Amino acid sequence: MATAKLSAPASQWAIGGRNPADLRRSTLLPAASPRRVAAAPIRAGSYSDELVQTAKSIASPGRGILAIDESNATCGKRLASIGLDNTEANRQAYRQLLLTTGGLGEYISGAILFEETLYQSTTDGKKFVDCLRHENIMPGIKVDKGLVPLPGSNNESWCQGLDGLASRCAEYYKQGARFAKWRTVVSVPNGPSALAVKEASWGLARYAAIAQDNGLVPIVEPEILLDGDHPIERTLEVAEKVWAEVFFYLAENNVMFEGILLKPSMVTPGAEHKEKASPETIAKFTLTMLKRRVPPAVPGIMFLSGGQSEVEATLNLNAMNQSPNPWHVSFSYARALQNSVLKTWQGRPESVEAAQKALLVRARANSLAQLGRYSAEGEGEEAKTGMFQKGYTY
Ligand code: 13P
Repeated sequence: MATAKLSAPASQWAIGGRNPADLRRSTLLPAASPRRVAAAPIRAGSYSDELVQTAKSIASPGRGILAIDESNATCGKRLASIGLDNTEANRQAYRQLLLTTGGLGEYISGAILFEETLYQSTTDGKKFVDCLRHENIMPGIKVDKGLVPLPGSNNESWCQGLDGLASRCAEYYKQGARFAKWRTVVSVPNGPSALAVKEASWGLARYAAIAQDNGLVPIVEPEILLDGDHPIERTLEVAEKVWAEVFFYLAENNVMFEGILLKPSMVTPGAEHKEKASPETIAKFTLTMLKRRVPPAVPGIMFLSGGQSEVEATLNLNAMNQSPNPWHVSFSYARALQNSVLKTWQGRPESVEAAQKALLVRARANSLAQLGRYSAEGEGEEAKTGMFQKGYTY
């Protein structure tokens, strides 16, 4: 891989595969020309302005993302936890409960959907996409095709989905999606190997470039899994390595930073580490990592919850918003927004309203945390129960 010091003299920089001294010798430029040789300009994407607007509207004060993009298999696990079968009708009923919650748009700026939901309607025929628009919530779409074993690695995985991605993104845009998500994972206890980090970063960057080219703001999500008994310092080290590489390849792929959103894991000790860290420590480590790695051009950092309890995820977000940050620091939670909703609903039609209220409670709590004004006072025991599962797949 090419590396260059910031202080390197210009003659060390290759331009289009040649260095400036070679170019001066060519017939294109007179030998004594003082003119600088520029690389071919990068074509501005036709969606640039719209991408910036979309990203800004998702990263708006007091709002964050509701992630309900579970694949059918993972949605099946959510339904099984309350004794429901994994049928299309049950998935639709659950998503209908979530997406028709009145007033949700006050706290939620975007909802990430699975493909099935993007094309689905309520039982009385209103498209889910229109339910979201009604609340001023941007519809988003999971575009990766999931994780598979990465041959040649230390039992690690890579994320599939680049083939045909451009045409899928174009179709999703027509259907109303305005942002996309691609989740890949990095395992601390399994290395991570240089190969796995490079593959994860390159895949994210290719995806981001393709999504932007088709009008979708890419959420860039290299999830550093909670699995392991390592201390928080080790997570920091791995996160710095991963994000350095992700930004290297994002830049190489000419991704426009103003039109992306990040979905990092918080920097915490491994789930099996002997000591737990306080929200203040997690905020300090996480913000240190982000400030070292993420340019201020990026509009929003939308954290995943990764198996933390609802209250933990909210307290940690709140701790990160106690002083101003260069970017909007918010949430894109799945488990930490859905757990009490599922428990309240239990699949009973008569409990839909109560479950929607439970969603509003969590959404409002995280909205307050985005503004740095949350207190856990009065939170129930259920919301404090952790949801970590070893080797969790999404
Ligand atoms: P969790 O908040 O459950 O970790 O979900 C992460 C995710 O990637 C959802 O889009």
